Amino acid sequence: MIHKISIALASLLIAHCAFGQTSQEQDIKVISISDAPSGPVGDAIRQGHKILTETRVMLPNNVGNGLNCSSCHLNGGTKPHAAPWAGLWGVFPAYSARSAKVITLADRVNDCFERSMNGKPIPYDSTEMTSILTYMQFISTGVPTGSNAKGRGEGKIDQNLIPDALNGKTVYAEKCAACHGANGLGLKSEPNKYVFPPLWGDDSFNDGAGMARPYTAASFVIANMPLGLDNSLTQQEALDVSQYFTHQPRPVHPGKENDWPKGGRPKDAR
Ligand code: HEC
Ligand code: HEC
Repeated sequence: MIHKISIALASLLIAHCAFGQTSQEQDIKVISISDAPSGPVGDAIRQGHKILTETRVMLPNNVGNGLNCSSCHLNGGTKPHAAPWAGLWGVFPAYSARSAKVITLADRVNDCFERSMNGKPIPYDSTEMTSILTYMQFISTGVPTGSNAKGRGEGKIDQNLIPDALNGKTVYAEKCAACHGANGLGLKSEPNKYVFPPLWGDDSFNDGAGMARPYTAASFVIANMPLGLDNSLTQQEALDVSQYFTHQPRPVHPGKENDWPKGGRPKDAR
């Protein structure tokens, strides 16, 4: 099945970004998986797309929860402000304060396997890793080396706001529970497949994941949730609901106390 991927790349602008570099941000140019070439490279691109959007089914030994990579990296990693992969090809290797070392794009992929997917890293020399990287390079087409794609990362949340979990519980019931469930455990269509992914519980991301940090989660939520109603919540509502759902029971990431060994630990780290 061929999925249409629309990447709207905006025009050039100079902007300060959250990734420690000031760069010329570039819109992602419109590209579709059906534009992938025939032959071995195209096959790798298509395979990478399949792994990233059907991760749970494709790599059951590496995924320890009910999510796919694309549960958070929406539209196959092409949606601005949903931590898009488009444009990452030219900005890795990069320094990671969480690991206190320079990491490759493959390292970053495995970070999300271990945390967001509560699973195990995939071998660096596997065809799966090669396919994932080939797809990420393909959707990075047109973003110059060293430049961030416009909409890298998530939306913006004022870091001075104080979260209120009690109000968050109310926001959750009104704006999220219809899809993610009153109990936060999501909704399945088949034993292995969620229509609406869980926000907490055993099948959710672990407490070492970026999404477990209330301000990071709020930045994602404000720009993407409720699904189809981007930017409909106030920043305070997004932060309150994120404070609420991130602190519900979820898998534990062993060793998370060793993150940020050389400082820079964000205030919302768990
Ligand atoms: C539960 C949500 C979630 C899932 C599932 C998830 N990620 Fe992520 N990912 C994030 C968040 C949030 C960030 C940004 C973290 C931050 O801002 O510190 C991120 C960042 C990344 C980055 C770096 C982005 C950048 O701009 O530097 C890559 C690459 C990545 N994820 C790959 C993956 C892959 C591959 C998978 C599946 C194996 C995956 N992610 C699954 C939430 C998720
Ligand atoms: C109309 C249904 C719907 C509503 C309402 C909705 N979501 Fe979602 N949400 C989704 C779907 C579907 C996905 C996964 C998208 C995908 O796989 O392409 C998702 C993904 C997520 C994710 C990342 C994946 C995960 O399970 O951790 C978070 C976090 C999230 N939603 C939070 C919220 C919050 C908070 C609200 C309320 C403010 C909300 N959502 C309201 C449908 C919805």
